[in-house]
Amino acid sequence: MAVTTTAVPVARRVSGFTYAIRNIVAEARKVEAAGRTVRYLNIGDPIPFGFKTPPHLIEAVDRAMRDGQNGYTPSPGIAEAREAVAHDFTARGLPTVADRVLLTSGTSEGIELTLGALANEGDEVLVPTPTYPLYTAVLAKIGARAVYYRTDPTRGWLPDLDHIRRLVSPATKALVVIDPNNPTGAVYPRDVRLALLEISDRHAVPILADEVYGDLAYDGSVAPIGSLNPDALIVSFSSMSKAYLAPGWRAGWLAVGRSERLDGVLAAIKKLADGRLCSPGPMQYAITAALTGDRSHQVAFRAALRERAALTTAALNAIPGMSCVEPKGAFYAMPKVELPPGRTDEDYVLSLLREAGVLCVYGSGFGTKPEDGFFRVVFLAEPAELRAIYAAMADFTAVYLSR
Ligand SMILES: Cc1ncc(COP(=O)(O)O)c(C=O)c1O
Repeated sequence: MAVTTTAVPVARRVSGFTYAIRNIVAEARKVEAAGRTVRYLNIGDPIPFGFKTPPHLIEAVDRAMRDGQNGYTPSPGIAEAREAVAHDFTARGLPTVADRVLLTSGTSEGIELTLGALANEGDEVLVPTPTYPLYTAVLAKIGARAVYYRTDPTRGWLPDLDHIRRLVSPATKALVVIDPNNPTGAVYPRDVRLALLEISDRHAVPILADEVYGDLAYDGSVAPIGSLNPDALIVSFSSMSKAYLAPGWRAGWLAVGRSERLDGVLAAIKKLADGRLCSPGPMQYAITAALTGDRSHQVAFRAALRERAALTTAALNAIPGMSCVEPKGAFYAMPKVELPPGRTDEDYVLSLLREAGVLCVYGSGFGTKPEDGFFRVVFLAEPAELRAIYAAMADFTAVYLSR
């Protein structure tokens, strides 16, 4: 029999771990329970919006399972898929070998393993603002500090390079670069990428290159940043989640740059990866199929995204009090609403949810200031549906800004 009714305490680190993209769903469920339909523009998953996983990838998983490939794999992944990833990087201008590639449970696990391998408690990692929030969440968990560098909406959401230079310190252990970017849709031009490489080189701070949207820039795939200098200190991450339309499979990879200065990091990542045994096995076979087979679905996907990006920007910029930088890749936009004094981005987003049944994520969940009025829109829905959503947002925003 229990001698006490006190709740079991949880670790302090949990309070620092926030992930607004999913946290906000609890609010949406309450709104649904009250009888209102909610349109979900919060999660970057193409599947619920009707985009289909290419059949040859499904066949590869199916075949692997039927062939009995249902056991653990080696912890860095099966050899043939690691070869395929290495070959793909090499073909894109970043020569690498299978030994420097690991298969991971999505980009997410690659990020977590690498931050775990690089940063001690109290160390600093430079993270863009706004950022994909997993970086700050993982850093909170391991007790390291996210130090935000600005990306600038008045310059197409490009990184503020001088700000990065000022923030680098002896405690800096990594520089996170997300390109093409979530949540802003920015795609960085060559001069910016070269400047990021120069900063990394000068301070011996490795770049964590989140390239999960690399094939979803509307003007065509962007090469990995490491292709501009294959000797740079880089760990590059990607997955099947976005450009191969299979996010639920948790099939990703990372490649550690060829510089010998990264050998210790590679060994540390492998050591940490041993502990989690392997990423999902049958899905590793689909990675080979994805990187060696037909990619024509990406042409259609990019065209669909370009159309939605243009529609989104036009509709949101037409709303009085709102402005939106046009995305150049991925499926996100980061509009700004001019908030009346005293209001926050979260207040706007929650009111939009409760009064118009549209769920977005407030910018402060990505690290922007609450009073700045940024929020993120996922524009994967059909164009007609998006038009209806933006019309509802326009009506709501007019009322919201007038009270
Ligand atoms: C920038 C960025 N990195 C990583 C991820 C996680 O992707 P994965 O499904 O590959 O873990 C996402 C997912 O939205 C993302 O937007």
